Amino acid sequence: MSELVVDDLVAGYGDARVLHGVRFTVKQGEVCAILGPNGAGKTTLLRALSGMVRTRGTVTLGGTELSGRSPDTIARLGVAHVPEGRGTFMPLTVEDNLRLGAFVRRGRAEVDSDLDRIYTYFPVLKTRLKQAAGSLSGGEQQMLAIGRALMLRPRLLLLDEPSLGLAPLVTRELFRIVQAINAEEQTTVVVVEQNAHLALGIAQQAHVLETGRIVLSGTAEEIRADEQVAQSYLGYRV
Ligand SMILES: Nc1ncnc2c1ncn2[C@@H]1O[C@H](COP(=O)(O)OP(=O)(O)OP(=O)(O)O)[C@@H](O)[C@H]1O
Ligand SMILES: [Mg+2]
Repeated sequence: MSELVVDDLVAGYGDARVLHGVRFTVKQGEVCAILGPNGAGKTTLLRALSGMVRTRGTVTLGGTELSGRSPDTIARLGVAHVPEGRGTFMPLTVEDNLRLGAFVRRGRAEVDSDLDRIYTYFPVLKTRLKQAAGSLSGGEQQMLAIGRALMLRPRLLLLDEPSLGLAPLVTRELFRIVQAINAEEQTTVVVVEQNAHLALGIAQQAHVLETGRIVLSGTAEEIRADEQVAQSYLGYRV
């Protein structure tokens, strides 16, 4: 059974069409990697899934239609989007950023226990609770952004270039944690990454997006194995 079904998705900005009929599915609990060169439409695809751009076509999550709904409704239906550039509120403290992530939920005890769960994934955040988010390192900010998304208890986690601007060691740690979250929470993940090697390391399925179309799909092993494809479509080696 597919958790996420994307069918004939068209999206863009004003009159400029960016996605031209994107179609793929993700099984419940799987990690799906979206690869592709700059400007391919990867960010636009995640925005389309979370309702931030106007779309045509169908998107369903666990059988519930998301297409045409507002970002707020889509968040309430269980989609957490960690945007490109992380989207944390810099002047607010780490703790306030995390609590904001639970905006669709009530119940302080429940929120407190979720905070504890997030500190087990990201222990460094617990030592920074009263610090302004803007004073965190890049890696810590990415951890905060993912932690905030987890406060929603998402069914579907959308990650846009989590490795951007981070040192290799920090990036590897971050991907290890994303893998642990996926395994322990059974959260379905769609991750957009320039670093194909890292993304394929945690994904079951991958799709290569080029100028708004999926030009190649397969298991992570298949995509990784095909070096020629990697070079022609991705422009770099995986
Ligand atoms: N807010 C916007 N308004 C108008 N056009 C936009 C907007 N955001 C993106 N675009 C255009 O949409 C196309 C796809 O951009 P998008 O950001 O989705 O690509 P991407 O694959 O995420 O690229 P990158 O790897 O550089 O992040 C580009 O041509 C871009 O110029
Ligand atoms: Mg992008």
